[in-house]
Amino acid sequence: MAKKPETPPPQKSIPAPEQKAQQKSSLLDGLLGLEAKTSGKAQEGEAPLTKEEKEALKHYDEGIQKMLDLIAPAAMKVNTKSIILNDEYVRTFYVYNWPNFIYPNWLSQLVNFDAKFEMAHFIYPSDNKAIMRMLRKKVTEIRSSIRMLEQRGIVRDPTLEAALQDAEELRDLLARGQEKLFQFGMYVTIYAEDELHLKKLQTDIESILGGKLVLTKPAMFQMEHGWTSTLPLCLDELEIGRNMNTESVSTSFPFSSSDFTQDRGILYGINRHNDSLVIFDRFTLPNANSNIFATSGAGKSFTAKMEMLRYLMLGVEILVIDPENEYTNLCEAVGGSFIPLSIQSPFRINPFDLPQAIRGEEAAAGETLRASVINLHGLFKLMLGTLSPTEDGILDKAILDTYALRNITFETKSPGEIPPPTMHDLVDVLMTTEGGEDMAKTLQKYTEGSFAGLFDKETNVELDNKMIVFQIRDLEEQLRPIAIYIALNFLWNRIRSEFKQRLLVIDEAWNLMQYEDSARFLYGIVKRARKYYLGITTITQDVDDFVESPYGRPIITNSSLQILMKQSPATVDSLQKLFYLTDGEKYLLVNSDVGQGILFAGYKHVAIQMIAGPEETALITTKPQEVAAQAAKKEEEAAALATPDIQEELPASEDVAQSEESIPEVEAPPEEERT
Ligand SMILES: Nc1ncnc2c1ncn2[C@@H]1O[C@H](COP(=O)(O)OP(=O)(O)OP(=O)(O)O)[C@@H](O)[C@H]1O
Ligand SMILES: [Mg+2]
Repeated sequence: MAKKPETPPPQKSIPAPEQKAQQKSSLLDGLLGLEAKTSGKAQEGEAPLTKEEKEALKHYDEGIQKMLDLIAPAAMKVNTKSIILNDEYVRTFYVYNWPNFIYPNWLSQLVNFDAKFEMAHFIYPSDNKAIMRMLRKKVTEIRSSIRMLEQRGIVRDPTLEAALQDAEELRDLLARGQEKLFQFGMYVTIYAEDELHLKKLQTDIESILGGKLVLTKPAMFQMEHGWTSTLPLCLDELEIGRNMNTESVSTSFPFSSSDFTQDRGILYGINRHNDSLVIFDRFTLPNANSNIFATSGAGKSFTAKMEMLRYLMLGVEILVIDPENEYTNLCEAVGGSFIPLSIQSPFRINPFDLPQAIRGEEAAAGETLRASVINLHGLFKLMLGTLSPTEDGILDKAILDTYALRNITFETKSPGEIPPPTMHDLVDVLMTTEGGEDMAKTLQKYTEGSFAGLFDKETNVELDNKMIVFQIRDLEEQLRPIAIYIALNFLWNRIRSEFKQRLLVIDEAWNLMQYEDSARFLYGIVKRARKYYLGITTITQDVDDFVESPYGRPIITNSSLQILMKQSPATVDSLQKLFYLTDGEKYLLVNSDVGQGILFAGYKHVAIQMIAGPEETALITTKPQEVAAQAAKKEEEAAALATPDIQEELPASEDVAQSEESIPEVEAPPEEERT
């Protein structure tokens, strides 16, 4: 991509050949580091260099390794229709015909075309004054032609009238400074491994452009000039331009494919293609779900936390399933509540809870109960392991009977208002059911055994806060999927009961994906989230884990936003297949730094750098060094706060009279700081 300087060189932007050749060689030399550093001239006051000395310096210069040595092809053969660069076939085309009408972003199909090619645009501003003079002459000519036709009594010529109208319009726009005229040249160079591929690629590109009536021809007999024109040297050696006004030229802006800025939403980061800002609102996408994939420590949780912090400012409610207790800092800072789920914790959730005040179809009598029974069925299968078809049937009936014990049946209206049963009731029902004893015994682990108290009590968790974090770090490994299931079910009931804009973040989502029942449950809520104004973010380290589950792929296809960050070379291939990444994108992911990645929203792909401010970073980092430094700082501050109190006591014991004046002053500020 090259753009000539604003001011056109003399002679209407086309320099004299010698002048140009000189310009080219010095520009190339500069770019490639070829400019002689040792001038060969003697310094002032020194004896002039002898011929031998000059020769020696010249040889020394030649012996220095230059950029050119590194990038130059080993050989280059220029043919009529192509160049052979090492083993590669190269061909350049130029555009010779533009359509009358062209629309913004018409280039995106070519820019996104998956092939190796280079494209150059040369835009030369024309001198408005000369153009105006020319147009005036043209208008006069057309007018007199029209008049002559009229005088001779011949019927009017519509082409002449259209030409007159176009010319007049252009004159108006130029005179007002709304438009400018440019010479626009566009060249494309393609690369292929042999003649056959080159021909195929040529046909592909010609048909992409030809479909828009942008017609091209190969730069026959000028292949070398064509090729240099598309190198990033800003050298137009073909000089095949067409007149265009500002509006038409602007439609060929090629960055539109990777541009991703909306006028509302939150800042995700910086677009690494063109350094613009990536600002958008995920709730404007077809659904607000997102997946984040990356290796450990690449910045997945960091990105999610940054996003939730910024969405909080837009008034969105945030719900988090946090398996590492790493959202605590953030949650405290924004005044959210965190609910640790563990045997020791006082917080309890009853999986038998039914949602209240559900709207629409689901509010029909029986629907609420039916949906809850299906969810509970999945949960108990997770607790019980594999079940035989008979056991499956018994379990289903037992759950319904358990509800019936509390007078909740398919006929009950607003079942959510009746106190629900607990797991104790289910165990009792199973005990008295034929074939249910084994299941009852396994479930007793949760009612009387080592996990008693966790899931078999009435719910005592309140959810009216703008950020709620469920922490499950202190739970045994085997209980985690169960706890996440229960917490999600609980949240899902609340989400359906009250219409609000919400984000639900499930960190380390593989916990759920490893079992079919929990994966199915997650898929179920991901699929329906949109209708409840909910965006679900799933965060996963291992793509393979996720995709191996039969529900992994549907979860991805039901998420409009994907954030891929650093990948290990071992996993990147499966990711490439999954997301149809180009080789360039794959390479970019393997070589990404912490906080870098590719963001996919619908068909748009943007290479992005997530950027957090220092205050944000302090709240959301998990880097051990930074966390330790913060802890130390906190201690220091606490110590600093404590010091004035000591001073305050000292004078009081020594000199009461003096202290009466000094105490209030010393005492006041620390109190305020602490509140
Ligand atoms: N965009 C970023 N800017 C600055 N630092 C970052 C960024 N992203 C991540 N980091 C740093 O990297 C650390 C690790 O990131 P994070 O906790 O998000 O890793 P992760 O991908 O969630 O890893 P794990 O899978 O192990 O949980 C962060 O605590 C932070 O210090
Ligand atoms: Mg993490």
